[in-house]
Amino acid sequence: MLNQSFLKQAFHALSQHKMNVLLTGGAGYIGNHTAVALFEAGHRVVVYDNFSNSDRGALKRLEQILGAPVTTIEGDVRDTALLQRTLTEQQINAVIHFAGLKAVGESVSKPVDYYANNVQGAISLLQAMQAAQCKTLVFSSSATVYGDPKYLPIDEAHPTSATNPYGRSKLHIEEILSDLSASDPSWHIAALRYFNPVGAHASALIGENPNGIPNNLMPFIAQVAVGKLPQLKVFGNDYDTPDGTGVRDYIHVMDLAEGHLAALKFLTQQGGLHTFNLGTGRGYSVLEMIKAFEAASGKPVPFSVAPRRAGDIASCYASVDFSAKQLNWRATRDLKDMCESGWRFQQQAQQV
Ligand code: NAD
Ligand code: WQD
Repeated sequence: MLNQSFLKQAFHALSQHKMNVLLTGGAGYIGNHTAVALFEAGHRVVVYDNFSNSDRGALKRLEQILGAPVTTIEGDVRDTALLQRTLTEQQINAVIHFAGLKAVGESVSKPVDYYANNVQGAISLLQAMQAAQCKTLVFSSSATVYGDPKYLPIDEAHPTSATNPYGRSKLHIEEILSDLSASDPSWHIAALRYFNPVGAHASALIGENPNGIPNNLMPFIAQVAVGKLPQLKVFGNDYDTPDGTGVRDYIHVMDLAEGHLAALKFLTQQGGLHTFNLGTGRGYSVLEMIKAFEAASGKPVPFSVAPRRAGDIASCYASVDFSAKQLNWRATRDLKDMCESGWRFQQQAQQV
């Protein structure tokens, strides 16, 4: 039986230019959700992943959502030859580069792994793209490149800095993209600086399911609510914020996914390198997140206050004016939706 997603895609494919889009790291959390948004807009997605932080099960569930198979190439982004062959054989028009390592703490203890996967991986991808004459790229950057905010909300002109190897790897890649774009104007590149992606697709089939103890707040809260972890540690309640706990700009992962679609559309009309914030423009504190998750799940989230986490900042939220204007895109889903979808996914993940 044809599902709704398939019909949606068929409709869009007829009504707009269809692209073949390669998603490096497409089996991961954000890549998976972006695949749904791209597919529903009529594009064909090809996933390229080495499964170092994901598995084929997530892709199976993605295919269930789409009602169609997803072409998947198992490979490392540092394998330039395989990438080049993939770009040519799959007739790729644009690449979204999600692949990389992303755990801040681990990057401090394994910096070379981070530079190898992230920086070397990006260079390898650019070489393959150059050789295959595929010059449209959307890159997953991060709000971490803003370092300790000098002012709020953070706009794209805010100075950049990094306090750990993960953040530095993102900054290095942005610099490489800037040099590349200056050297060859035929590239069309968007660097998207994500704030804090959370939540899951409405089907609850895909979502964020980190290995081991989660580093990030939302998956940690979800695992406490479902009874997998006993309690949350709130890292500091003496920040200069309304309730003393850290404030972040949490964005629903499907809004983020749609931001990629908007960036691709933008790049069909604009050459050069363009940098955009993907956030909501609104911050929530740790205590507000706990309360919202308790309301969404109907479960208590016990917590205790612990010392501040090294390297954390008090508040971080985006100015979204530039993305809204240039990309004609805005996040539309609210905190309730982020928590409810995250909770539905957490319950489903328990059963798999
Ligand atoms: P994820 O770990 O779920 O997905 C990354 C995917 O890349 C995984 O499937 C992994 O197997 C794959 N991968 C890693 N190294 C690879 C390599 N060398 N070759 C091929 N595949 C490789 O992470 P995510 O949350 O989906 O993040 C996607 C991107 O967004 C990353 O670049 C990350 O740095 C960036 N980002 C994430 C967040 C966040 O909070 N999740 C915030 C800002 C930026
Ligand atoms: C959010 C808030 C914590 C866990 C990180 C990366 C960043 C980006 C997104 C990739 C903070 C508090 C957390 C816990 C807590 N990733 N917290 N107890 O630190 O804003 O950003 O992920 O690019 O680069 O640094 O996100 O979810 O870890 O923390 O109190 O167990 O929750 O102190 O205030 P963060 P987070």
